[in-house]
Amino acid sequence: MVWVCQRAGIEVAGFCDDAADKQTGSFAELPLLGMIEAAAARLGQNVGFHIAVGNNRARQQLAARARQVGWQPVTVQDPSAHCAPCAVIGEGSYIGIGSVVSTKTRLGSFVIINHHGTVGHDCDVADYAQICPGVRVSGGCRVGEGALLGSNAVTLPGINVGAWAVLGAGGVALRSIADGAHQVRLGAGIGGSKR
Ligand SMILES: CC(C)(COP(=O)(O)OP(=O)(O)OC[C@H]1O[C@@H](n2cnc3c(N)ncnc32)[C@H](O)[C@@H]1OP(=O)(O)O)[C@@H](O)C(=O)NCCC(=O)NCCS
Repeated sequence: MVWVCQRAGIEVAGFCDDAADKQTGSFAELPLLGMIEAAAARLGQNVGFHIAVGNNRARQQLAARARQVGWQPVTVQDPSAHCAPCAVIGEGSYIGIGSVVSTKTRLGSFVIINHHGTVGHDCDVADYAQICPGVRVSGGCRVGEGALLGSNAVTLPGINVGAWAVLGAGGVALRSIADGAHQVRLGAGIGGSKR
């Protein structure tokens, strides 16, 4: 994460962490700032934040806490990523190395598009969703809030991946996946339904 921030020209001041043994000292040669609320009491509200946490629920909760103390979300986009000029990228999102976000696609807030993930045209990827490395989201797909698409997964065009649903690594979504459902193999998805 820090190295991508550096590539993007974003200076990282330090890390917040809830773990008892990570309240002081340093990590990756940067200061540990303590919990979000404690750091805000010292640093004030004029602070940009990015949630570098892969767990989608945890990222949602931490983003809420950081907003609560008045901090501003920072989007991190690697310089090698290509986003169409008309694509909309929500605040606090992460666009990794070699990723592509195509035309007329919208990413919500605190979305992760990990390295070499591609999102086709006319897609909608909702808040807190995560596109893992190498994923191919075809054109016209909807990825629901908090959904996880594991590494190298593929969605066929026009597929709907429900909120907080999971498409396992290497999985191919031939049909839509219902809210909260898990698909770990090729096919229609456990609990999935055709859109
Ligand atoms: C799908 C996933 C979330 C696990 O879900 P889970 O409900 O915990 O599944 P389990 O590990 O209990 O496995 C359940 C079954 O599915 C199989 N399975 C798990 N993941 C699978 C996958 N990606 N493809 C095919 N089968 C898979 C398991 O082998 C197991 O099969 P069995 O019952 O015949 O033994 C996880 O395997 C996955 O693919 N995560 C994506 C992680 C990722 O890409 N991270 C990148 C971070 S940068």
